[in-house]
Amino acid sequence: MGQRLMKRVLSGIQPSGQLTLGNYIGAMQNFVKLQHTEECFFMVVDLHAITVPQEPAALREQTEAVAALFIAAGIDPLKANVFVQSHVRAHAELGWLFTTLANMGELERMTQFKDKSAGKDSVGAGLFVYPTLMAADILIYNADLVPVGDDQKQHLELTRDLAQRFNTRFGQYFTIPEPYIAKVGARVMSLDDAGKKMSKSNPNAGSFIALLDAPDVIRKKISRATTDSGREVKYDPANKPEISNLISIYAHCANMTVEAVESRYDGQGYGPFKKDLAEHVVSVIEPLQARYNDIRQSGEIHQILKRGAEQAAAIADRTVADVKERMGFLSPRG
Ligand code: AMP
Ligand code: TRP
Repeated sequence: MGQRLMKRVLSGIQPSGQLTLGNYIGAMQNFVKLQHTEECFFMVVDLHAITVPQEPAALREQTEAVAALFIAAGIDPLKANVFVQSHVRAHAELGWLFTTLANMGELERMTQFKDKSAGKDSVGAGLFVYPTLMAADILIYNADLVPVGDDQKQHLELTRDLAQRFNTRFGQYFTIPEPYIAKVGARVMSLDDAGKKMSKSNPNAGSFIALLDAPDVIRKKISRATTDSGREVKYDPANKPEISNLISIYAHCANMTVEAVESRYDGQGYGPFKKDLAEHVVSVIEPLQARYNDIRQSGEIHQILKRGAEQAAAIADRTVADVKERMGFLSPRG
C-alpha cells in the first residue's frame, strides 16, 4: 500500500435516541476539526443501534436525524464522507468474519457490555458481539485515527488486538488504528450526577442537554444543574466534579481555555457563571438547530447519504474481498 499523505479518520454515532451535548463535545466537534486536514468517514451506525430493541419507525427517523445533525454540526459532505452503516453491506460481512476471530473472554470483559447487560434477564447476542462489528467498521477503511469519547477506549483496544491477530494469522494487512480523544471534554458528565456520563438513555431529561432542546429548556437545565455548596469557579475534577464538568462545557462552547474561564469568574460565585454558560451553550446550539431544520426540510440528506455510501462501499468491498482471499474463501469467480 502506498504512503497516504492524509490520515484516514473514521467514526460512528448510534441513532438510538436524541444526541446530546456529550456527543457533540466528545465526538462531533472533533469530526468537524479533522475534516479540514484528513480523509474522513463519518457514519450513522444503525446496525449497532439494533443491538438493543428499536421501534422500526423511530429507528428510521433517528437515522435520518443523526445524519442531518452531522451536517448541521458543521461536517461538510464535500470534505467528509457521510453515510449510513447498513447502506454499506460489507460492514456486516466483515463483522461476521471478525466475530470468528474474537474470544468469549475478551468480549465478556467489555465494560459497555457489562453496563448494558447488568440486571437484565435476557441479553441479546448482538450486544455481546457489538465490538467485533465496531472493529470491522474501523478496519474496513484501514483507518489511522478514530475520534471518540473516553467510553470507547476499550473497544478501540479490542479493535487493535483483532487487527494484530488477523495480521499475525493471515499476513500483514490492517493498519493498527489510534484513538483520538481530547484531553478536556472526552467525558461530559451528567448535570444531576457528575459521577455518571451525560447520556441520552438517562430517564431524567434534566440530566442531559439534547442538541434539539429548545433554548429555554437548555437555560432551565443549566440553572438547575447540581453544584457543590462552595462558590469558587475552579477546575478540580477530584474535589469539585460538578463545577469542573460545567467549566469544561463552558470552555468548549465559548472556545476558551479552562484557565481563562476560571479567571473570568474569579470571586464571582456560581450564579453569573451558570447564566453565561447557558448563553454560550445556546449560542452553539441555536445556529445548529437552524441548519438542522433547513437540511430536514430540503431533503438533501438523501443525496448526501447515497453518494457517501457509494464512495465508502468502493473501499469497503475491496477490503472484504482481500480479507476473504487471505482467510481462504473460494472466490465466486473461480
Ligand atoms: P453513542 O451515542 O454511544 O453512539 O456515542 C457516540 C460518540 O459520542 C462516541 O464517540 C462516544 O464516546 C461519544 N459520547 C457519548 N456520550 C458522551 C459524553 N457524555 N461525553 C463525551 N463523549 C460522549
Ligand atoms: N460504539 C460506538 C459508540 O457507542 C459507536 C461506533 C460504532 C463507532 N462503530 C464505530 C465509533 C466505529 C467509532 C468507530 O459510541
